[in-house]
Amino acid sequence: MARARVLSGVQPTGALHLGNWLGAIRNWVNLQESHDTFFCVVDLHAITVPHDPARLAADTRSTAALYLACGIDPAKATVFVQSQVAAHSELCWLLNCVTPLNWLERMIQFKEKALKQGDNVSVGLLDYPVLMAADILLYDADLVPVGEDQKQHLELARDIAQQRINSRFGTEEAPILKVPEPMILKEGARVMSLTDGRSKMSKSDPNEGSRINLLDPPELITKKIKRAKTDPLMGLEFGNPERPETDNLLGLYALLSGQAREVVASECAEMGWGRFKPLLAEAAVAALQPLQERYAELAADPAELDRVLANGRQRASAVAEATLARTKAALGFLGAG
Ligand code: ADP
Ligand code: TRP
Repeated sequence: MARARVLSGVQPTGALHLGNWLGAIRNWVNLQESHDTFFCVVDLHAITVPHDPARLAADTRSTAALYLACGIDPAKATVFVQSQVAAHSELCWLLNCVTPLNWLERMIQFKEKALKQGDNVSVGLLDYPVLMAADILLYDADLVPVGEDQKQHLELARDIAQQRINSRFGTEEAPILKVPEPMILKEGARVMSLTDGRSKMSKSDPNEGSRINLLDPPELITKKIKRAKTDPLMGLEFGNPERPETDNLLGLYALLSGQAREVVASECAEMGWGRFKPLLAEAAVAALQPLQERYAELAADPAELDRVLANGRQRASAVAEATLARTKAALGFLGAG
């Protein structure tokens, strides 16, 4: 039997952080062993909010390099850049024309991001989930590993595939698009901000101190953890709704030190922040060190990354073109049947 297909992607908007790694990319590394994996850098998504053209290409490269540094192996997985496979934009258009506007208007991420943009909200920001649906559906993905915040977008992709394409233009025996399943990893699925345990760690937070970037040097990691918000109570614990920062930092410690949550819960049950924070900083620095070393090697050899992305583009295009042709034929386009 063919291996189940997995597709996922991250936007090249600034440096990737611990949330992106622990909530997303870390899982990809395991999946490439057992699944047919496609990982893209979704640069078309990055322009749905105002962007700096002078940085887009460099950020796209560094995000791809970080995938590899995190352990994605181009011999096992297809790593590619979304904008280099034209079928993404084209399928997005076809899907746009069958997606009800009100499905997009109720997307939580749209509402949140739109609030921040004020009068400058682009049509692209509203359309973001349809492009994401195209990303997924083009590859006949069975599974889409993402953080919890992306679950609503995945449901939308499923609804578009099933209700708007397959049931209108296909038959039960011959569906046009594969309906994907979400794959949400619970533990570590949501890493919270270092400065506010109730909001998620995010690239878009203007406060640098709120996140640990994967390429932050050890001193900076230590400094950010030292300044992380805490509470005045002694002893650390999971699950106390009054102590979201404690829950988050303890959870990070478990993930970064590779220990079970019960183990760290008992190790830290009596601990004060003065003892805990240096431990957490040490675990974070140690967990990121091998990744940072691999990244430096890749940065020193740009031709290697070029080769990986050219190869990925070719493999991705072959799959995407076939799905696009099938969809165009089902929709009745001239020359597509
Ligand atoms: P950001 O919110 O920082 O801009 P993205 O939206 O580009 O990050 O997310 C890229 C991937 O990383 C997605 O799969 C998302 O679910 C995951 N992710 C982002 N932030 C976090 C977080 N704080 N905790 C867990 N996963 C996260
Ligand atoms: N919207 C996703 C995020 O912010 C990124 C993304 C775009 C994606 N296309 C995708 C994730 C396809 C998984 C599959 O994280």
